[in-house]
Amino acid sequence: MNTVLAGHGLVKKYGSTTALAGVDVEVGERDSLAIMGPSGSGKSTLLHTLAGIIRPDGGQVLLRGDRIDNLGENRLSALRRGRFGFVFQFGQLLPELPAEENVALPLMLEGTPRRQAVERARRWFAPLGLDGLEKRRPGQLSGGQAQRVAIARALVVEPDVVFADEPTGALDQNTSSEVVRLLTSVTREQGAALVMVTHDADVAAHCDRILQVRDGRITHHSQYTVA
Ligand SMILES: Nc1ncnc2c1ncn2[C@@H]1O[C@H](COP(=O)(O)OP(=O)(O)OP(=O)(O)O)[C@@H](O)[C@H]1O
Ligand SMILES: [Mg+2]
Repeated sequence: MNTVLAGHGLVKKYGSTTALAGVDVEVGERDSLAIMGPSGSGKSTLLHTLAGIIRPDGGQVLLRGDRIDNLGENRLSALRRGRFGFVFQFGQLLPELPAEENVALPLMLEGTPRRQAVERARRWFAPLGLDGLEKRRPGQLSGGQAQRVAIARALVVEPDVVFADEPTGALDQNTSSEVVRLLTSVTREQGAALVMVTHDADVAAHCDRILQVRDGRITHHSQYTVA
């Protein structure tokens, strides 16, 4: 596996709570990893630590071999903007902006002029089945459409890694399976890695591997199935 992102011996404590108790994880190009486990087991903490949102108390995070957990806040936030994409459960689109500008936002934050950013953003609408919805505001989209716009926004910077925390948590089963199918296929086509937290075994089954977490430890790691 061509490793894109790795966490080695990750430890995170909140007071007397050990959210991560020494976790090792790797994800490669075109590889997708689902993180599952009970509520409070450390799934979001693990995702946020790998994404440079939370700093670990122990261990290291490496992006293509370079440590990122010890970078200064400015470099870390530039790296998150440029090399990572994020999809969360809900509430991530700006309600006052049309869909195409929501997708263009990460490019504009990197300094791409608005017109050019919107043009690049529009290219993601067809692959995600969003043709014709470019001018809609988030309030005029269904939950599944809004999540597909969020996926487009995560991918528009052509990230190394896409992080998704319960990306289908607010969707019904059919919509959920359609959204996760698009998320995994488009991320793979893009050559990016995917790290996804989910409670839903059907959603996790779309990923190449499944990591089970309990009390901040990995209890099970499904390996690739070789056909
Ligand atoms: N900012 C924080 N301050 C204090 N404790 C925290 C904080 N964030 C998480 N924790 C604790 O760390 C543990 C792991 O939390 P985490 O959010 O990673 O769980 P999770 O597996 O994502 O749960 P859920 O499925 O409910 O989202 C929990 O005991 C939680 O209460
Ligand atoms: Mg969580």
